[in-house]
Amino acid sequence: MSTMEVGASPLPTTVPFAYDKRMMITSGRSSRELAAKIAAKLGVALTDPGLKKFSDGEVYCRFQESIRGADLFIIQSTCGNEREGLTANDALMELLVMVDAAVGASAHRVIAVTPWYGYSRQDKKSAPREPITARLVAKMLETAGIDRLLTLDLHAGQLQGFFQKPVDHMTALPVLTQYVKDQLAADGDLVIISPDAGRVKLTRKFAQKVEAPYALLEKERPAQQVAEIGYVIGDVKGKVAVIVDDIIDTGGTLAAAAQTVIDEGAKKVYALATHGIFSGNAFETLANSPLSGIVVTDTVPLREGAPDIIRQLTCADILTDSVRAIFTDDSVSEIFAGENQLF
Ligand code: R5P
Repeated sequence: MSTMEVGASPLPTTVPFAYDKRMMITSGRSSRELAAKIAAKLGVALTDPGLKKFSDGEVYCRFQESIRGADLFIIQSTCGNEREGLTANDALMELLVMVDAAVGASAHRVIAVTPWYGYSRQDKKSAPREPITARLVAKMLETAGIDRLLTLDLHAGQLQGFFQKPVDHMTALPVLTQYVKDQLAADGDLVIISPDAGRVKLTRKFAQKVEAPYALLEKERPAQQVAEIGYVIGDVKGKVAVIVDDIIDTGGTLAAAAQTVIDEGAKKVYALATHGIFSGNAFETLANSPLSGIVVTDTVPLREGAPDIIRQLTCADILTDSVRAIFTDDSVSEIFAGENQLF
């Protein structure tokens, strides 16, 4: 004779062994194209976050389908998008409201995918009474309810320490080094250039990958968004110089760096960076510089009117592999053979 406890549920009481998690991908307005590429590679339809902007500028979101129980990847670089009429601050706010809505809608895990982590340069007090805004953004994302962050080439690796939640810090290095090997190596003897002392470790790694020597520039910032390059440490004479940076914003650093290496006798100069923000007069500044070519990835959408010297590569494959690994709880460092902790 079978017995049943009084009040016991007639429904199964164990989680089915083959529990199927659901992966869902959505994006805010700063990263729609990149998100579409990632979703297509994963064979997942993009979930519509139902974003709106009210006439007073407030942003709103309501997911257009149930996300209950899903691992939701929200792809949103916190940068502006001119075509969408979006500022960097709008993009951040949009990301926060999407996270909040996802938590409230009972997603299983909410993963913020911010290929470009805005405010990352405000990572310490460089002068009294300054904010540490990169830390503030981390707190805001965690307060909104993210379970983890997936990002690419942070301005400083230490930014991971602003988060209590796990951070998957990926790098576009393989895409950029492959470009140098395939497209620039034939131009002559290469020298990889670090535009400032802070990037030497990354530059050394980059130089090893493309089997070239490296040199270093002495950079000063007399004021915010003003870059002055003093001199070159290393040999650039007669060489094809490749400046490697993480960010191109106003283009001031690169224009000054390119002029310095040409003055020091480099035959040609190129620049590569993960994040191409190109704010203000960056296009003009760079078009009038001695740079023969500039390569960035699509962590930030390229504004209209880019000069022909700018080329955009995609980092969709790296992010797709990372999203897949996070979803299946596999190792993300295997994507880079353990070499994603670069700096
Ligand atoms: C600075 O430390 C960064 O690595 C970049 O060099 C900088 O953000 C580039 O800014 P801009 O293009 O405005 O000179």
